Amino acid sequence: MNILYAVFSGTGNTLRVCRRSAELLRESGHAAEVYSIKKGAPMPAIEAYEALVVAYPVHGFNAPTPVLKFLRSLPAAAGKRAYLLRTSGEPSKLNNASGVTPKRILKKKGYDVRGEFTYVMPYNILFRHSDGMVARMWQAAERRIEEDVQTVARGGGQLIKVDPVRRAAAFAVRIEHPAMPLLGRGFRTTDDCVGCGLCATDCPQGNITMKDHRPVFGADCVGCMGCAFLCPKDAVRISLLNGWRVNGAYSFEGEPAADDEVCRYLRKMYLRYFHENE
Ligand SMILES: Cc1cc2nc3c(=O)[nH]c(=O)nc-3n(C[C@H](O)[C@H](O)[C@H](O)COP(=O)(O)O)c2cc1C
Ligand code: SF4
Ligand code: SF4
Repeated sequence: MNILYAVFSGTGNTLRVCRRSAELLRESGHAAEVYSIKKGAPMPAIEAYEALVVAYPVHGFNAPTPVLKFLRSLPAAAGKRAYLLRTSGEPSKLNNASGVTPKRILKKKGYDVRGEFTYVMPYNILFRHSDGMVARMWQAAERRIEEDVQTVARGGGQLIKVDPVRRAAAFAVRIEHPAMPLLGRGFRTTDDCVGCGLCATDCPQGNITMKDHRPVFGADCVGCMGCAFLCPKDAVRISLLNGWRVNGAYSFEGEPAADDEVCRYLRKMYLRYFHENE
């Protein structure tokens, strides 16, 4: 079995899940590659693979715009197996609405959409999860990945139904997507910026250019938070969203949080998700 993971990832969570999935598949004798969805990157040779997994972080209960663009540029592929894989900061069912449009596009192109995989990973906006929460999330993700790669390898899978109320709620939040290029134009750096250029190199939209050793933000931002999250000097200010800025990569190692250390925000939901995967 030869599987392609096509992944959009702003701050590395979705990429981490895909890399681990591909690694496990290779260990069990399959071929698996990870392709990054980035503006201007050449399309992968889909015909060379038996199954395609399209992976993305949930942005405002929807799939990020570059993922929809990637799906629309895919060649028609009658009967080719396809899956969706997504990560989200919380285990809310609303996030499942983000699969509706991707499934529709894939089916229209003739793909045999077999299943959807969901993982809770730490927030890269809104607030920073504790190290213990992150370790517990990764423990749960690793267990799910083990099962999910077997599902892909045997061609199984299950689609997630989304009720009309959740669809409508997610549709309403889609306003965030056209707003992001406008908000992104207002991103600025503080004097802590050392001009290392990391943000410009990593931006999946190629939206940052370096001028006189300082980043200049263009009009193509999709709000992935890569620049603000990964800046080694925490020097990026994200205009109106700045109060929700999260900076610094998570470690994923360490002692998983016990039940009573799980964050107060949506505690019951997180606990249900953790217990399901133990
Ligand atoms: C603009 C934006 C919107 C987000 N919206 C949601 C959301 O609606 N629901 C959710 O659970 N997480 C949301 N998140 C959190 C991410 O989905 C989560 O942190 C994800 O694992 C990030 O993946 P990445 O590191 O591959 O970019 C959002 C993050 C960003 C940057
Ligand atoms: S990553 Fe941070 S320090 Fe480096 S150029 Fe970008 S803003 Fe400046
Ligand atoms: S400018 Fe920053 S938030 Fe916007 S797409 Fe690039 S890395 Fe992501």
